[in-house]
Amino acid sequence: MASKHKLNFIDSELEKIRKNNLYRELRYGKASKSHIIIGRKKLLNLCSNDYLGIPVTKIKIDQLQSSSRLVSGNDESYNKLESILARHKSQQNSLIYPTGYMANLGTISSIANKGDLILSDELNHASIIESCKLSDAKIIIYKHNDMQDLQKKLKQKGRNKFVITEGVFSMDGDFSFLKEITEISQKTNAVTIVDDAHGDFVVGKDGKGTPNYFNVAKKIDLYISSLSKGLGSFGGYIASQNNVIDLCINKSKSFIYTSALPSFLIHHAKIRIHSDREKQKKKLEKNTNQLSSGLKEIGYEINSKTQIVPIIIGDEKKAMDFGKFLFTNGVFVQPIRFPTVPKNQARLRISVTAWLTKSDIDYALEIFEKGFTKFL
Ligand SMILES: Cc1ncc(COP(=O)(O)O)c(C=O)c1O
Repeated sequence: MASKHKLNFIDSELEKIRKNNLYRELRYGKASKSHIIIGRKKLLNLCSNDYLGIPVTKIKIDQLQSSSRLVSGNDESYNKLESILARHKSQQNSLIYPTGYMANLGTISSIANKGDLILSDELNHASIIESCKLSDAKIIIYKHNDMQDLQKKLKQKGRNKFVITEGVFSMDGDFSFLKEITEISQKTNAVTIVDDAHGDFVVGKDGKGTPNYFNVAKKIDLYISSLSKGLGSFGGYIASQNNVIDLCINKSKSFIYTSALPSFLIHHAKIRIHSDREKQKKKLEKNTNQLSSGLKEIGYEINSKTQIVPIIIGDEKKAMDFGKFLFTNGVFVQPIRFPTVPKNQARLRISVTAWLTKSDIDYALEIFEKGFTKFL
């Protein structure tokens, strides 16, 4: 066994993280509809990604197959869910990964190669950034939603070109400019990839996602998404044409060299997809309007049009203090800091869910009003 002192260098790294107010700690909570119980405290939960708040789904847990899908960890239920997801995205086929993170890691690194060019929005999620690094392609970051910058940078040479963006940006709640992006991509023959983890099941007709909302679904070449957010289930998937799926089955390391998502989760996702999502979607829209307009009335600057409503604080310590104030007053919002967002852009990322009632939101607004005078 390695002697302990060899790892003492880690202490100085942790100390640096603490000094910069960027230290993270695990909390242990139990979700209970619109609330979360942390320790003995019951708090209003304003940081869950279970946006649609579909009522609890009871499932039977069978014997786990505990193997990669290419070995013995596959059964018919995967195929059925993949057909449903392919139809949901109007694509030829889909492929389920254990998580959305792994879907990103495995897909982009499989399809982009040496000599190719990837154009990636500067605010793209960590899993997209990592996946681009795993490919041998040249990576170019374009300014957030800046179409002139994208157009200019797409002029660089590349055998195959890819433009990758989120649909709804996870930390700002804004939409990507998909109409413009798909037009630019078409002109330059670039492949358009959308990670719609936060728009899927939540926006567009029948929750088909952000490209559907902007009426450009037909122009998307490859979708990457998560079952763990709007749907409130678990897992990740991609949807595209058959050859992309085939290549990922053959080449994607985060698909091949890992155990399959347990099939009880496949059943869980399937039940949720067939639930009354429209009713939950309407409720979510109503809740988002109530919270966003209430915050604006108090004086907060709110630019988001989606269920992700960030309040930008800037200073990391101030964001942490605001978070503690909310916690003390029974509202749970996790402050988000670097490296999840740029330095000095710390924020309270509120996520609205359909679980919330009108009086829950009234209560949250009352506390945010007190916080406004205290912190802003
Ligand atoms: C944009 C985006 N893509 C992918 C993921 C990863 O999804 P999952 O939680 O299913 O791994 C996230 C998670 O936060 C995300 O925000």
